[in-house]
Amino acid sequence: MTSTNASGAHGAILEERAPTTDTALVELREAGKSYGNIRALHGIDLKVHPGQVTCVLGDNGAGKSTLIKIVSGLHQHTEGEFLVDGHPVRFSTPREALDKGIATVYQDLATVPLMPVWRNFFLGSELTKGPWPVRRLDIEKMKQTADDELRHMGIVLDDLEQPIGTLSGGQRQCVAIARAVHFGARVLILDEPTAALGVKQSGVVLKYIAAARDRGLGVIFITHNPHHAYMVGDHFSVLRLGTMELSAERNRITLEELTNHMAGGAELAALKHELAQVRGVDVEELPEEADLQVGAPQPND
Ligand SMILES: Nc1ncnc2c1ncn2[C@@H]1O[C@H](COP(=O)(O)OP(=O)(O)OP(=O)(O)O)[C@@H](O)[C@H]1O
Ligand SMILES: [Mg+2]
Repeated sequence: MTSTNASGAHGAILEERAPTTDTALVELREAGKSYGNIRALHGIDLKVHPGQVTCVLGDNGAGKSTLIKIVSGLHQHTEGEFLVDGHPVRFSTPREALDKGIATVYQDLATVPLMPVWRNFFLGSELTKGPWPVRRLDIEKMKQTADDELRHMGIVLDDLEQPIGTLSGGQRQCVAIARAVHFGARVLILDEPTAALGVKQSGVVLKYIAAARDRGLGVIFITHNPHHAYMVGDHFSVLRLGTMELSAERNRITLEELTNHMAGGAELAALKHELAQVRGVDVEELPEEADLQVGAPQPND
């Protein structure tokens, strides 16, 4: 939608300020989050554009989950700005984020394993038919819609009646992605969707991340794996100890550089050095074999 008041003498200035098609769906500016006196995140700049995949990488404890908790409305930022469609926001609940089209697929997907695939697809948003007080679930329509929507994403399941718990982890992730797309997500956040998956299943999930991107969604893809990120990513942000260590467009970085950043090039070199020292340790300094036997007298016995 374009702004209608961007006209007249001040048009140029207003146009500059009004959201344009270049406006990011989601943007963080110098954003940060403290839990009491623990500063989990600090000085984060991030933009998510339609039809692009923004990858957020980082080691354990780097702040990845904290970042997506802010965007998905679970937590509020304590520093900087958070904008949706160019407007500053502060969500109190995930529902508010969802109303703005920001959907999150968590790794431990909120599904009911024994319920059929189609029921899980509509969980919490069931379709009904008929007037009150004889309104009932519109089972046929839900099955048909789930089937259409999954096929539209290129996901073909033999039987939508099968319990979702019988699908593989990768397939369940894909159903969750298709569900978010169907319910109107504009921004899709995926928290380590490939972390527990093997090579083949990860490939399937990456394919549907690309499918969501091709349908014009802005995707935030959280991962530890630079190879997975590089296969689908347009932009890469690497977090380290709560700050943004690297932020690069795809054409500015190679997979090798990204991997090196993730591994922490300098830290890796130091570790190699330490390991070399351990291997080359002076045997004279190792304890005598007899001293290692069970029951051997200890120095302070
Ligand atoms: N609710 C909380 N209260 C206090 N500290 C927290 C809380 N949540 C996260 N932290 C701290 O913030 C830092 C970042 O944590 P976060 O969970 O965002 O990391 P992560 O990158 O998602 O790690 P992982 O890869 O292990 O999931 C950590 O030091 C963590 O201990
Ligand atoms: Mg995490």
